Amino acid sequence: MNPTPLGPVTAGIPANLRTPRIRSKASSRARPAASTEFSFRLKPRDIARHLDRFVIGQREAKKVLGVALCDHFQHVRLTLEGQPAPFYQKQNVLLLGPTGVGKTHLIRSAADLIGVPFVKADATKFSETGYVGADVDDLVRDLIRRAGGDIQRASHGIIYLDEVDKLAGSGESSGRDVSGRGVQTNLLKLLEDGDVPVLSPNDVTGQLQSAMSAARGNTPGQPDTISTRHILFIASGAFVGIDDHIRARLQSPTLSPEKCQARLATADLVRFGLEPEFVGRLPVRVACHGLDADDLFAVLSRSESSLLHQYERSFAAYGIRLTITAPALRRLAVLAEQEHTGARGLMSVLEKTFRDLKFQAPSTKVRSLEITEDFLDDPARATRSLLARKTSR
Ligand SMILES: Nc1ncnc2c1ncn2[C@@H]1O[C@H](COP(=O)(O)OP(=O)(O)OP(=O)(O)O)[C@@H](O)[C@H]1O
Ligand SMILES: [Mg+2]
Repeated sequence: MNPTPLGPVTAGIPANLRTPRIRSKASSRARPAASTEFSFRLKPRDIARHLDRFVIGQREAKKVLGVALCDHFQHVRLTLEGQPAPFYQKQNVLLLGPTGVGKTHLIRSAADLIGVPFVKADATKFSETGYVGADVDDLVRDLIRRAGGDIQRASHGIIYLDEVDKLAGSGESSGRDVSGRGVQTNLLKLLEDGDVPVLSPNDVTGQLQSAMSAARGNTPGQPDTISTRHILFIASGAFVGIDDHIRARLQSPTLSPEKCQARLATADLVRFGLEPEFVGRLPVRVACHGLDADDLFAVLSRSESSLLHQYERSFAAYGIRLTITAPALRRLAVLAEQEHTGARGLMSVLEKTFRDLKFQAPSTKVRSLEITEDFLDDPARATRSLLARKTSR
């Protein structure tokens, strides 16, 4: 059986699509704040094509993201070029879908391409007051950190807020629900157009340093606040059970999950427990589908970010060439599907498969290994016989 050739482990971006569309006109030693240029030239299809290299499936999400990201960053570019659109309404995105199907992977890959700073956080880490958990404004300050302190760059970044479904209230007036609703309220101003102090009120050292620098007459050259007007927010969550709200609203109890996703409306998200004002500020919505065995096979064999490259690389570090036959890859995909954790299932399945081989093979003289389908029946036993056969030759 033919070993499946795996493409080169290059997560690089081709020169024609390569970004960082943010360049400093002044020398790198100059203060970056007032002198950054933003020249975004991508088109929605460029973004979708780039995402195709890393993310399998999720065609609708790629289309929606391509359009939303281009709309947003073209608007940012035009504004910075002196053509403001005062009535522009931001196209923040809500991504729905089960765990491990590529939601974060899509956003991270898109942010890499666009070359804007990117921050990801779980909505559950915030609390209403910021006393116990983090304060939502910290998200924006994280973005500044990611932009290397360049506030101008940070002000066109992307903030990705995961697990927003966990902010839903259930009508009870205690515990997480209250806090979740409070966090939604705090996020409202950020989602539209808010000013966030660059230094956290809790950052005593930072405040002191800034005061001392101002007293010495060293004006820092950066503003004290950052506006969120041009920061794109992408929220996501699994929203388990939302299909039932959709079916109930449409009085169609047998509607398939795909059709439910296509008919998702604001009312369903509100019934789920999110505040209408919060949902309203996430106008672009798209669902990611679950991954079946065929998709998982493609994740392994076609995606440039395939976990197999990591395995190849770790064996290659000991001078061992690893190949896996196509039927073995298919079997791994079927096993991973049974984990019901999307592409994350591949991690556990591969780990179990290669555990003994990774432990034993580096201490042998073996230089190449081919994994076939029967290896997967009992990887520990198969490892022993494979290594015995190879080393006795
Ligand atoms: N559609 C896909 N194509 C290629 N790789 C994928 C895909 N989906 C997931 N992966 C792989 O699985 C890993 C986990 O996926 P990701 O972090 O995007 O999940 P998620 O949808 O954000 O899940 P969660 O809701 O649990 O955060 C990714 O880093 C990627 O390697
Ligand atoms: Mg995620």
